[in-house]
Amino acid sequence: MCRWVLRPQKAFVMGVTNALRHYSAWMIRLHINVDHVATVRNARGTRYPDPIFAAQQCELAGADGITIHLREDRRHILDRDVERMREAIQTTLNLEMAATDEMIEIAERVGPDVITLVPERREERTTEGGLDAMGHREAIRKVSSMCERRGIRLSLFLAADADQIRASRNLGAGQIELHTGDYCELSGSGRTTEWERLARGSELAAELGLEVAAGHGLTRANVIGIAAIPAVEELNIGHAVIADALFVGMGEAVKGFREAVARGEAQRSTDTHSIKIQSVSSEGSSRDE
Ligand code: PXP
Repeated sequence: MCRWVLRPQKAFVMGVTNALRHYSAWMIRLHINVDHVATVRNARGTRYPDPIFAAQQCELAGADGITIHLREDRRHILDRDVERMREAIQTTLNLEMAATDEMIEIAERVGPDVITLVPERREERTTEGGLDAMGHREAIRKVSSMCERRGIRLSLFLAADADQIRASRNLGAGQIELHTGDYCELSGSGRTTEWERLARGSELAAELGLEVAAGHGLTRANVIGIAAIPAVEELNIGHAVIADALFVGMGEAVKGFREAVARGEAQRSTDTHSIKIQSVSSEGSSRDE
């Protein structure tokens, strides 16, 4: 009798477990970059809008983490924002920074959960290219040994270049973030080629045991194709979320992106060719939304 009673229960538990595994394997972490809330604040030197309040709204709406970029020229996030953010948020704090002694000192003191190393040139409008990990081994090693001491996860912001990805593994990174800027700016076959490059890069990184994030220039429309890449586990999105928030509020903006990401994830399959076709076509249709 026991067998008859227990079997359906066991089948149910296994079904739920498998469903959860399946779900969690596909659930991309959505990190929101709140830099441009600080851009608006700094434009007038006011106390508002507060990037910390914005970050908490993102968390309430289901964001998995908060990303901030402390730039050399402090054009948006300020040193005290980093400290206040560390105190205030409940999820993961990802600090984007250049591999300089000044930034290492700040990061070591504040202790974010993740550091993402980005290249930085004062004159650029935003982060325009991936990091040259091979060309900056010494500076990256300095950051990576501080990260090891402090228990901070290290991520490198890279173009989908096989040599750079391999180098990052040897420099102590546990994660890479693929630069999606070109994918976002291209269209037609150029975009398809870039999508394939990102997919190959993310696959290589995953094979090397690196976690794969992606970001830059993503919108509710074009994020669908990136979320369809099977190895992508995290997305860092800023400008377009803050832009949406102007009209619908922070919480609704985050939810809109969460839905778009879920649409991309739903397109994942082992058939890479079909993902490519679907992601590019659904990206095109959602541009009109
Ligand atoms: N990822 C990295 C490494 C970045 O430097 C930026 C821009 O600060 C982003 C993601 C977010 O880009 P966007 O603001 O275009 O969404």
